Amino acid sequence: MNVLIIGSGGREHAICVSCKKSTEVKQIFCMPGNAGTDQISKNVLIDLDNFKEIVKFVKKNKIDLVIVGPEKPLVDGIVDFLEKNKIKVFGPNKIASKLEGSKIFTKKLCEKYKIPTANFGIFNTSQEANDFIENCKLPIVVKADGLASGKGVYICNQKEEALIAIKEIFNGKFGLAKEILIEEFLNGEEMSFFIISDGKTYFPFGTAQDHKRVLEGDKGKNTGGMGAYSPSRLENESLNNKILNKIIKPTLKGLEDLNTNFKGFLYAGLMIVENEPFLIEYNVRMGDPECQTILPKLKTDFLKLIKACVNNNLNSINLEWYDDKSLCIVLCSKGYPDEYKNNLEIKNMENIKLNQNEFIFHAGTKKEKDKILSNGGRVLNFVVRSDSFKNNREKAINLINQINWENGFFRGDIGYKVID
Ligand code: AMP
Ligand code: GLY
Repeated sequence: MNVLIIGSGGREHAICVSCKKSTEVKQIFCMPGNAGTDQISKNVLIDLDNFKEIVKFVKKNKIDLVIVGPEKPLVDGIVDFLEKNKIKVFGPNKIASKLEGSKIFTKKLCEKYKIPTANFGIFNTSQEANDFIENCKLPIVVKADGLASGKGVYICNQKEEALIAIKEIFNGKFGLAKEILIEEFLNGEEMSFFIISDGKTYFPFGTAQDHKRVLEGDKGKNTGGMGAYSPSRLENESLNNKILNKIIKPTLKGLEDLNTNFKGFLYAGLMIVENEPFLIEYNVRMGDPECQTILPKLKTDFLKLIKACVNNNLNSINLEWYDDKSLCIVLCSKGYPDEYKNNLEIKNMENIKLNQNEFIFHAGTKKEKDKILSNGGRVLNFVVRSDSFKNNREKAINLINQINWENGFFRGDIGYKVID
């Protein structure tokens, strides 16, 4: 099979490595990819907003399957566009992608299908929202409706912060805002829960705990994710069943009632409060860095799995996993998640000897001549699998120290809830 992977992060490099291992693979293309995907596939530069050019490329290069990594093209309807052009593609369609593309869409679905989630209100004007804040309980969470690269969520400990959030959102900081979402703050522990679905059949696809804050001890600003471990320490059979029955199944039913279905990876961001799951948000893709953390645990041939999904026969697959523990640490560029410099050389990469079950997935990197340069805030992912999270973390830190990149920083406490 010839495969095209869309995206350029650590998630996409991990997907690329999994495809490369498949017995079904012929050639892999990544659009745009990074210095890691460049080593095992062919990177292609086409504007991801230009669906027509993507279709041309797919036809010209006889690509049998397209895998879409990030949310933006999904929310913009790339799947519908490719399918209309008779191209096989793995990912949810435009309507199903509203689960991530519109927080208000998801909240209304939760309300209709009684899916446990934080209590909420939707407001059309800043006046109404401000009035509500006057008498609400603190902390309170203010959210922009659409995609905001993880930045449209304000956890407000004071009324003043909430008023600023409302002002910024209605002033268009995250695009035109007709409505705003304000919700109750849930106090619990977060867990990322994944399924893979072909629209009829679905399988759980692992759990993880991400570390979103930039500093150790979960302090500082929110980021895309500084590291993760899988499985989540919260995972147990009774909780799994609650998540499937109270959250996943009613969501899929809701999509069915809209005459559609969900094909692809669905990522439920959950808050677990006393072994009860509450939906915080949906993402219509794998998480990053959760993908890098989970995929190395997959035993089943990844491309066979994805192909089965696209051909609506996921039920023919026997999904198998390595039953051990995986941990990922993200090496970032100094300054992230605020301003950071690009094009800084990362040396020493070629000297690193990876042992079995140790992986380096590139994210914000690019190759120029023979050099590897930084090209983003989250730069490299170090993943180690074994039967001990502690061992994984030590080994991942050891790999980072071998690279010894002077412009890098990382959280040394990933997995502290299961290790320390
Ligand atoms: P999101 O972009 O929706 O993932 O939100 C970013 C982060 O904000 C989440 O990962 C949570 O840590 C936090 N968050 C969002 N909504 C709530 C809530 N209702 N209660 C507590 N924390 C929340
Ligand atoms: N790790 C969080 C995300 O992928 O949205």
